[in-house]
Amino acid sequence: MTAHADFAVIGGSGLYSLLDNAEEYGVDTPYGLPSDPITVANVADRSVAFLPRHGKDHRYPPHRIPYRANLWALRELGVTQILAPCAVGSLRPELGPGTFVVPDQLIDRTSGRAQTFFDDTVVHTNFADPYCPAGRQAVLDSGQDIDIHDKGTMIVVEGPRFSTRAESRWFSAIGGTVINMTGHPEAVLARELGLCYTSIALVTDLDAGVEGDHGVTQEEVFAVFAQNTERMRGLLMRTIAALPEKRDCACSGT
Ligand code: ADE
Repeated sequence: MTAHADFAVIGGSGLYSLLDNAEEYGVDTPYGLPSDPITVANVADRSVAFLPRHGKDHRYPPHRIPYRANLWALRELGVTQILAPCAVGSLRPELGPGTFVVPDQLIDRTSGRAQTFFDDTVVHTNFADPYCPAGRQAVLDSGQDIDIHDKGTMIVVEGPRFSTRAESRWFSAIGGTVINMTGHPEAVLARELGLCYTSIALVTDLDAGVEGDHGVTQEEVFAVFAQNTERMRGLLMRTIAALPEKRDCACSGT
């Protein structure tokens, strides 16, 4: 079988496998190897690729993930639409742990990450709306029975440390809804390649400026994601079936 997939899921913390009866493919790219070999299987009669963002054994911290290799490898397989689940902290007290958020905006607070494929040619990509509108709608339609929040601004910090209370309060004040460490440059690299990209954020904690007690810990982030992995899997499977067969959005840039 030649490796091919139309759709992809890039799994975040706690989601290291997704597909049953999958074939595994090692894909090399001009940017090196992706985080792990990519598995491909059929879901709802659709060919779906899965790639664990941090590697199966969670060996890549957010600032070391080979983002360019990951996106290039998926495009190489033929993928045109990507779902990107991730763990996030909440910057709004009413969006507590366990809530799903489908962001429509992001603010990049990372530094020093390779964030373009266009180092040698002048290309300025339109990124006004970073997420695919059709992908977002498919997630929302598929999440009607769960606690899901439409829209929000994801602040992406460099990490790997969590934010101070002052930083966190500032992120809330400038309009942030949720915060994480991997949402950028993944979204912009997908856009540069003309791929639809939809973030599905699962709130694992209240960020330091919102909660008043101990600050955020890695243990609580992983524990809350683990408690919600099956809900995330269900949402992903329903969304894959609901994604449009043919793209009718502006993500491809054509
Ligand atoms: N990922 C999950 N929770 C987070 C938080 N509070 N800050 C940054 N990244 C996160």
